Amino acid sequence: MSIAKRVQELLAQMTLEEKVGQLQMLQGGGWHVPDHLREAIRAGRVGSVLNEVHVETVNELQRIAVQESRLGIPLLVGRDVIHGFKTVFPIPLGQAASWNPAVVERGARIAALEAASHGVNWTFAPMLDIGRDPRWGRVAEGYGEDPYLTSVMGAAAVRGFQGDKLDGLGSIAACAKHFAGYGASESGKDYNSTNIPENELRNVHLPPFAAAVDAGCATVMTSFSDIDGIPATANQFLLRQVLRGEWDFDGVVVSDWDSIRQLSVHGLTADNRESAREAALAGVDVEMASTTYAEHLASLVNDGKVAIETVDALVANILTLKFRLGLFESAETDAAAFPGIGIPAHLNAARTAATESLVLLKNAHGMLPLQAAHLKHVAVIGPLADEPFEQLGTWIFDGDANLSVPLLPALRARHPEIEFGYVRGLPTTRSQDRSGFDEAVALAERSDAVILMLGEEAILSGEAHCRADITLPGAQQALIEAVAATGKPVVLVLMAGRALALQSVVPHVHAMLYAWHPGCMGGPAITDVLFGHATPSGKLPVSLPRVIGQIPIYYGHKRTGKPATPDTIVRMEDIPARAEQLSIGNTSFHLDVHPSPLFPFGFGLSYTTFQYEQLALSARELRRDETLTVSFDLINAGARDATEVVQLYIHDPVASTTRPVRELKAFRRVALAAGEQRRISFTLTADDLAFYGRDRRRKAEAGQFHLWVGGNSDATLHHDFFLLD
Ligand code: NOJ
Repeated sequence: MSIAKRVQELLAQMTLEEKVGQLQMLQGGGWHVPDHLREAIRAGRVGSVLNEVHVETVNELQRIAVQESRLGIPLLVGRDVIHGFKTVFPIPLGQAASWNPAVVERGARIAALEAASHGVNWTFAPMLDIGRDPRWGRVAEGYGEDPYLTSVMGAAAVRGFQGDKLDGLGSIAACAKHFAGYGASESGKDYNSTNIPENELRNVHLPPFAAAVDAGCATVMTSFSDIDGIPATANQFLLRQVLRGEWDFDGVVVSDWDSIRQLSVHGLTADNRESAREAALAGVDVEMASTTYAEHLASLVNDGKVAIETVDALVANILTLKFRLGLFESAETDAAAFPGIGIPAHLNAARTAATESLVLLKNAHGMLPLQAAHLKHVAVIGPLADEPFEQLGTWIFDGDANLSVPLLPALRARHPEIEFGYVRGLPTTRSQDRSGFDEAVALAERSDAVILMLGEEAILSGEAHCRADITLPGAQQALIEAVAATGKPVVLVLMAGRALALQSVVPHVHAMLYAWHPGCMGGPAITDVLFGHATPSGKLPVSLPRVIGQIPIYYGHKRTGKPATPDTIVRMEDIPARAEQLSIGNTSFHLDVHPSPLFPFGFGLSYTTFQYEQLALSARELRRDETLTVSFDLINAGARDATEVVQLYIHDPVASTTRPVRELKAFRRVALAAGEQRRISFTLTADDLAFYGRDRRRKAEAGQFHLWVGGNSDATLHHDFFLLD
């Protein structure tokens, strides 16, 4: 019998109270099933639980649901499995820096296997919010500033979590969140309001969600935020018109934690009853944590305020997912059927992911890779160098710090012939206590080279952990300067959950490696790259600002009517006293900082040099039913085997609405041996050029296009082509 038929048969047997019960998600109870939860499940007042990961408890909950409730409907069991379960991978922002969807897919697969072995059948990931304001703590959970990179990575995460089929071993339902626009929270402050014009919403914020839906993502979570005056959890335009209507989404929509109740806090509704009605009418199927549906939906139906057909549709979505997950066939989990937790295959995958996520930003005089043969004493300095927990990053509810190997022990294990001295320097990254500086400087002075491991602890990013000042916190700048003053070669390894503003840091260090929060195998991965056992290949998934005041700064900005030129250099100190103010001839820039970012989106160095040459297009003119092939030579001009992330950008210079100055349209990791040259090809179709224009329809507009290929968003090798009508 088809799932649709089974759902209708079940619905026909349900009382209104049982229907409302399916919409309720409640918190699990830990090791023991609390009596109220046991009773609620038995009575059919709960359709799903979250935050319950003891497999015995989950099995007990499922047993009660299946055997003791009237209709025997199994439970959805949700958990935030964001970048690993016990085996922790790099934060999603770090995974994005690998520009390798296979890394994301494998990480999600392993997370799903480990979580499913604990009875979890639904994760609240991937987060697909576009992150253009690094003050926002949740940029750590997403894939950066770009809609296309986020779309590719998000779809990979969905495939990894859900596997080939939702009812397969180790498949868990994915959840594209937070729908929509959450990343645009004003001033980078969590839960804040957003102001997103529809053109920007459709072209920047929604595409990753559309890609996730296309990839078969089973569920979508609404955002906490207000958008255009209607909080996302009650937003019929987003949930009904776009998600269900335009995209044909037939999965489950879940509220964020308490976000239905919060509709009245926003001021959209007067009370919980109105909130329940607004959310139901918008099509929110599952209410997470708050209980407005449970308290009011039945009476709203009885009073004719919400149609029973509306409630039936919500319930049907949930039952459909339960059938798709195979829960009606078997709801209990046999942990022994799974490959295991933190096994070598999982740790190796985490190590590969960490290695590929590392971005080399500076390497003066080829300081890196460190030459082990020439080093006897190396100073390791910084409060993050020996912290297994901190490198795991945000959102690691279940992460096992016992599996985590930080930098210091990894260095000592890999190079026992070198003496690695260690001084913490600062108690934490946030500390102003400089009492450890003398010891740090003394260690640097008696060493051949210094590895500084600084940045942000895990707690400084993630939900509700936003920072207004995204320079290095505490006295880290002073520590860097004190150590640098020794004149020793200094490599700075930065761990952070966001892009930091580093203009004042870069000149003081010889080399700089951006490690994000690299997950449990961060230490070995960083060691491999520092000593050349691996060659860095990560690229920035976000632009790094020079200073905070540049935020938001992202490569895909609009051109404006007065674009700054690349040679715009402002020296505020040179402006004469009482200078006459003229607006004519000026462009869009700040007086006190260069208009470019410190490091552009897509940037990352290698231990070799890559050259791009001989760009050719298969045609100058592209018809709508044709494919354009873009080819070029990639040359590894150095002496080391290495991997380059080749990137293709376009610009639509004249369109019915203004378009970004560049848009990423394709990328690929290419491994080349030292000296090797290879012809690389990408294909483009008219669909790749499409966007929502003045008529709010998605289409490619005929005319001229510019195209660039290269190793970052400042690529210079370019060509033009024309899309024909
Ligand atoms: C609130 C967060 O915004 C969301 O991302 C998360 O999935 C839920 N809490 C559940 O923990």
